[in-house]
Amino acid sequence: MTAQIIPVAVFDLVVFGATGDLSFRKLMPALYWRESDQQMPEGSRIVGVARTQMSTADYVAQVEAACRRHVGDGFDEAVFARFARRITYVPLDVASREHWAALAEALAGGEDRPRLFYLATSPDLFGPISEGAGAAGIVTPEARVVLEKPIGRDLASAIRINDQVGRVFNESQVYRIDHYLGKESVQNLLALRFANSLFEAVWNRAHVDHVQITVAETVGIEERAAYYDKSGALRDMVQNHILQLLCLVAMEPPTSMTADSVRDEKLKVLRSLRMVADGDALQKSVRGQYRAGAGAGMAVPGYVEELGSPSRTETFVAIKAEVDNWRWAGTPFYLRTGKRLPTRVSEIVIQFHKVPHSIFPPGVGLVEPNRLIIRLQPDDGIQLELMAKDPGPGGMRLRNAPLDIRFADAFKVRYPDAYERLLMDVVRGNATLFMRRDEVEAAWRWVEPILQAWGTSEEPPKPYLAGSWGPTAAIALIERDGRTWFEEAH
Ligand code: BG6
Repeated sequence: MTAQIIPVAVFDLVVFGATGDLSFRKLMPALYWRESDQQMPEGSRIVGVARTQMSTADYVAQVEAACRRHVGDGFDEAVFARFARRITYVPLDVASREHWAALAEALAGGEDRPRLFYLATSPDLFGPISEGAGAAGIVTPEARVVLEKPIGRDLASAIRINDQVGRVFNESQVYRIDHYLGKESVQNLLALRFANSLFEAVWNRAHVDHVQITVAETVGIEERAAYYDKSGALRDMVQNHILQLLCLVAMEPPTSMTADSVRDEKLKVLRSLRMVADGDALQKSVRGQYRAGAGAGMAVPGYVEELGSPSRTETFVAIKAEVDNWRWAGTPFYLRTGKRLPTRVSEIVIQFHKVPHSIFPPGVGLVEPNRLIIRLQPDDGIQLELMAKDPGPGGMRLRNAPLDIRFADAFKVRYPDAYERLLMDVVRGNATLFMRRDEVEAAWRWVEPILQAWGTSEEPPKPYLAGSWGPTAAIALIERDGRTWFEEAH
């Protein structure tokens, strides 16, 4: 089957924070690929906005360098030339009326088109930029605003930002992005659950012993120290990406794929998460920080050396989460994520109950519980671990025999980056893969007591060696319950 390109309407896209890491690493390459796949309609315009004074030609040169670097072998001069013609650059200081007027001029003539304001900036600027755009008269009925995560740094700031943005854009115009929802493999989770009847009957507490969600990265803090040190792994990964994955695993079947059907079900899961009570947070969560070690086979410095100053910011988190509803009561969800772990892998492990009674004599081998492993990255696919008879003579011996589908082998198409899909969804006005205000706030509500408990605890994050699977306390967190982290495939 070949990939299908669904045409979109002619649109204008304004990227605020156009000279930042996200813009160069993700947004511009994603738009380049849409150009390459001929999905960019004739006449669509891209306006880069940032504080730096520079010409459009200089900005385009920076975009070209970024696309060459991130598109790699697929880079094509002719495609880039076409893409470059769409781009203009407008320097903008949020407080300057003249600058807003210059932006309005760059958008003139596009009043009836979908007009996207992509805020790839610090969340402190979401309010002021929205207000500035409102005051400049460029928020048309067809306008949409895309907010990058994190939305705030706690519940109060998230509410404040949502209020500020909400004074200019109505909720249906606000697209809160979580790029994990745009990953092919994450959408495949919806296909797995709701396009197959096989799993529904066993997708509950009666059959599932527990669920593990791991998002492991080998990288350190890269060039984002200033952002990361204020954020830490709980805010950077758990409040959004990991809780969204949890929602997709745990939610009830939505009535359809429309935005509100899906978001209503995710919200119910977030509201069912058991609040971590005072005094419980340190039992149910572990935070860690990497020390110098051997990340990806090379000696790498520790977090504080990379940062250049002392810090109590966590680069690793493990949490035991509980979903208090009929489907999942008593089936814990163990979550973990970290930087400088031994391998880059994101996966969801659904571990089923053990067989209730073994009919086999001693010595046949361990009858392991079945596991469904949903690998999100890299080489996404699905693996179902089954017990089978070891072939050949020698009596009955059992062993684990995985059924394994790797999507790259099964479907030979280029996998678009999450941002390609999500940007086009905003143009189409499809908000299914974006977070609604109440979801973001419910996620903060759950995360906040953990942040508070850590904030008041004397204990610093537990150290772990770069290149290891995090502090030993994370192993103890799951082993206390008689379970272990799934790591055998890595
Ligand atoms: C981002 C985080 O949202 O997701 C980064 O801010 C993290 O710290 C990144 O590295 C991981 O995304 P991916 O797509 O590489 O798994």
